[in-house]
Amino acid sequence: MILDGASSEAIARAAQALARGELVAFPTETVYGLGADASRDEAVARIFDAKGRPRDHPLIVHVCDAPIVAQFASDVPAVAKRLMDAFWPGPLTLILPRRAGVAEGAAGGHPTVGVRCPAHPVAHALLVACAALDPPVPGLAGPSANRFGRVSPTTALHVEEEFGSGLLVLDGGPCRVGIESTIVDVSRGAPVLLRPGMLPLDELEAACGERLLLPHEVAGPRTAAAGTLEAHYAPRAKLRLMDAKMLQTALDLLGEDAPNIAVYARAPLRPRSHRIRLRRMPDSAAETARQLFAVLREFDAQGVQLIWVEPPPEASEWDGVRDRLRRAAAS
Ligand code: TXA
Ligand code: MG
Repeated sequence: MILDGASSEAIARAAQALARGELVAFPTETVYGLGADASRDEAVARIFDAKGRPRDHPLIVHVCDAPIVAQFASDVPAVAKRLMDAFWPGPLTLILPRRAGVAEGAAGGHPTVGVRCPAHPVAHALLVACAALDPPVPGLAGPSANRFGRVSPTTALHVEEEFGSGLLVLDGGPCRVGIESTIVDVSRGAPVLLRPGMLPLDELEAACGERLLLPHEVAGPRTAAAGTLEAHYAPRAKLRLMDAKMLQTALDLLGEDAPNIAVYARAPLRPRSHRIRLRRMPDSAAETARQLFAVLREFDAQGVQLIWVEPPPEASEWDGVRDRLRRAAAS
C-alpha cells in the first residue's frame, strides 16, 4: 500500500508499524529503502527474507542525526566526524566499528556497522518519529527496496513492483540522486572508498584531509558487500557496454528480424531498423544517475532482451554511474 509520505498521519502509522517489527519502505534522496527496526534482529530478518539476501550481507543503519551514531558505533574517529560535518544529511554511508551486542543482525554479524543520515524530508521525518517513540527506535536498517541483485527502486511504484501491494510504502516522489550512497569505510585507519556514489571524489578527499584508498589497496579481510559484488544492479534484459563505433556497426548489421534491443547512448546513432529503441543518455552524470534505474526498468517493462549501453566518459564524476553499469553488465 502506497501512502503519501508528506502526511504526518502516514509517518505516524509507518513509525508504529516499524515499532511492531514490521517492514516499511521509505524514500531517500538516493533510492528507496526497505526499513526495519535496526535494533531488533527478528525485524531485520524479515528484510533478508523479503529481499532473498544472504544474512551475512550487512545492511545500512539510517539515523536522524549524527549524535545517534554513538548508539551503534563504538568509536567515531576524527575523519568520520569530518565526513559527517561535510556531507550529512546526505548520500554518504560510513562504515564504523560496531558497539558490541548492538544491531548484530543488521550488521550481518560483522564487527562493523554502516550508518547514514539521509537528506530526504520523508526519510528524516520518519527517523525523527521513530526516535521519539517510547521505547525509541533509534535506527532503521534499510537496504535498497529491491530483490537481491536487481535494480534499485527510485519511485514508490518501483517498490510495489518488487514486493507487491502488501508492503507499506511511503511515497516521496522520484529520488533526486538516483543511485545508491557513496560508502566510505573509516573503521580501519585510512579511509577506503567501498562504493562510489554521486559525491565528488575531490570534495570527499578534501573533507578527509587525505586520499581515499580503493578496496584493492588495503590488506585484510573484506566484508561481503552486496553492492560491491561483481554482478549486481541487473535488469532482466542482458546489458552490454559498447562504444559508439561498435554500436553503429552492430546497428548496421541488424536485419528487420533483430531481437528486441534498446540502446542507451550519448553518441548520435542511426539505427536502420525502426524497431530499435534509442534512448539518449544525458550529457550530465547527475542527470544520468537520476534516470538510470528507471530507464533500465522501463526497458524491462517493454520486454527488451538486449540493452546496449555506451560507456560513460572517463571523468570521475561518472564513477558511480560507470560502477553500476559495469556490475549490471557482469550479470
Ligand atoms: O543509498 C543507499 O545507500 C541506499 C539507501 C536506501 O540508503 N541503501 C543501500 O543499501 O544501497 P544496500 O543494502 O542495497 O547496499 C548497502 C551496501 C552493501 O553493499 C553492503 O554490503 C554495504 O553497504 N555495507 C553495509 N554495512 C557494511 C559494513 N558493516 N561493512 C561493509 N559494507 C557494508
Ligand atoms: Mg542494494
